Amino acid sequence: MQFFLDTGIVDEIKQALEWGILDGVTTNPTLIAKTGRPFLEVAKEILKLVDGPVSLETVSRDAEGMIREGRMLAELGQNVVVKIPMTPEGMKAVQVLESEGIPTNVTLVFSPAQALIAAKAGASYVSPFVGRLDDISSEGMKLIREIKQIFDNYEFDTQIIVASVRHPMHVIEAALIGADICTMPFEVMKKLFQHPLTDKGIELFLRDWEKVPERPF
Ligand code: E4P
Repeated sequence: MQFFLDTGIVDEIKQALEWGILDGVTTNPTLIAKTGRPFLEVAKEILKLVDGPVSLETVSRDAEGMIREGRMLAELGQNVVVKIPMTPEGMKAVQVLESEGIPTNVTLVFSPAQALIAAKAGASYVSPFVGRLDDISSEGMKLIREIKQIFDNYEFDTQIIVASVRHPMHVIEAALIGADICTMPFEVMKKLFQHPLTDKGIELFLRDWEKVPERPF
């Protein structure tokens, strides 16, 4: 499973790259707004750092506007993926952009039907939001299982990006289901490293190391 960071913060991306576990980045208007920085400045910095897919979101409501914005975003780098909301207008834009060789990521997907439509429209990626479903007492991971089953049934090439991830168990469950990608906040990525027995084990080894005579380091 590929790991994407869901962020607009460049320093977080740099750290994840140093760990060697980062495959791509997703952003959205909220994440960009949180940085307090100009959109193009942030987007260009991210694109310079990351070789893998970087999703940048359109904000128009009509297909024409989405297509115009999508083409403009695609000019920023060859790894740009244009994020398009799951609407009928959005699917028009997906078809046009994909036909021009511009990959799209259909976002704000909350049902298997929406994912099926996105795949049929030819989207390269689909982003079901698990956390926001959990927030309204609906099982987010059930949606991932259903989308995976549907895509497998018909051998769609559309990749599933598990989005709106809130905690490490979302990542693990996504991996168990076999989702292609999990996009997560930096805080969740950091938590994936943690285990109390690892910390305890390091402490014990270091304490015992002090007892070793003539230590070379
Ligand atoms: C997906 O690409 C979105 O940017 C993101 O995962 C939304 O997550 P949220 O529900 O935490 O805002």
